[in-house]
Amino acid sequence: MRKPKGKYFVHETAIVDEPAAIGEGTRIWHFSHVMPGARIGDKCNIGQNVYIGSGVEIGNNVKIQNNVSVYEGVAIEDNVFCGPSCVFTNVIRPRSAFPRKDRKFDATVIKQGATIGANATIVCGITVGENSFVGAGSVVTKDVPANALFFGNPARHRGWMCECGEKLGQRTGRSKILTCPTCGRKYRKSRSDIRLLPPLAKGK
Ligand SMILES: CC(C)(COP(=O)(O)OP(=O)(O)OC[C@H]1O[C@@H](n2cnc3c(N)ncnc32)[C@H](O)[C@@H]1OP(=O)(O)O)[C@@H](O)C(=O)NCCC(=O)NCCS
Ligand SMILES: [Zn+2]
Repeated sequence: MRKPKGKYFVHETAIVDEPAAIGEGTRIWHFSHVMPGARIGDKCNIGQNVYIGSGVEIGNNVKIQNNVSVYEGVAIEDNVFCGPSCVFTNVIRPRSAFPRKDRKFDATVIKQGATIGANATIVCGITVGENSFVGAGSVVTKDVPANALFFGNPARHRGWMCECGEKLGQRTGRSKILTCPTCGRKYRKSRSDIRLLPPLAKGK
């Protein structure tokens, strides 16, 4: 049985501690736990055995697969995909005998449209850029630029990814333009980043 909670769904085995803000159309599945003060946007899917910490903000249309803990200090923007069992952290050098009393965590931001592969670990204090892609099992120790494909341990820059999830191939000749073979989006490449170009008006 699923319990309808206003305009979102919480499975009867899940726990949502009040006050928590949950958007319209969001679904929260078996054995998940949302802590007080968490804010989850519209149309999110929170899988099985997911933990959302106090004060965590999650945007709209975010998919969090099974067995993910989103700790305090982590922010997740719109349209992010968190693969199963990916790991977030919030203290860079934790010690059990010296717990942190200041409750200041090393902030991690997952920017809109990014994907984190299954079982990847995001070390804290990192920004995972817009529409970037982190491969399965990676350990991310540095910021990931927008649209970059990172994987491995430590995760390294391996290429560029279109917003639609297709890999952007090599440039032809001296052209600075990368074109997505699937959706046709075009990006201008510079030394360290790529920028989406506006679509051309019809007839040009
Ligand atoms: C990163 C990823 C997108 C690359 O896919 P791809 O472009 O098709 O890559 P390929 O399979 O052509 O691999 C290219 C090389 O990178 C290696 N590689 C690919 N993904 C890797 C990863 N995550 N970690 C380490 N190495 C990886 C391959 O072994 C291959 O190495 P080789 O050239 O020595 O043979 C994909 O492997 C991945 O990790 N996807 C995430 C899947 C996931 O977690 N989904 C969650 C929802 S179920
Ligand atoms: Zn594309």
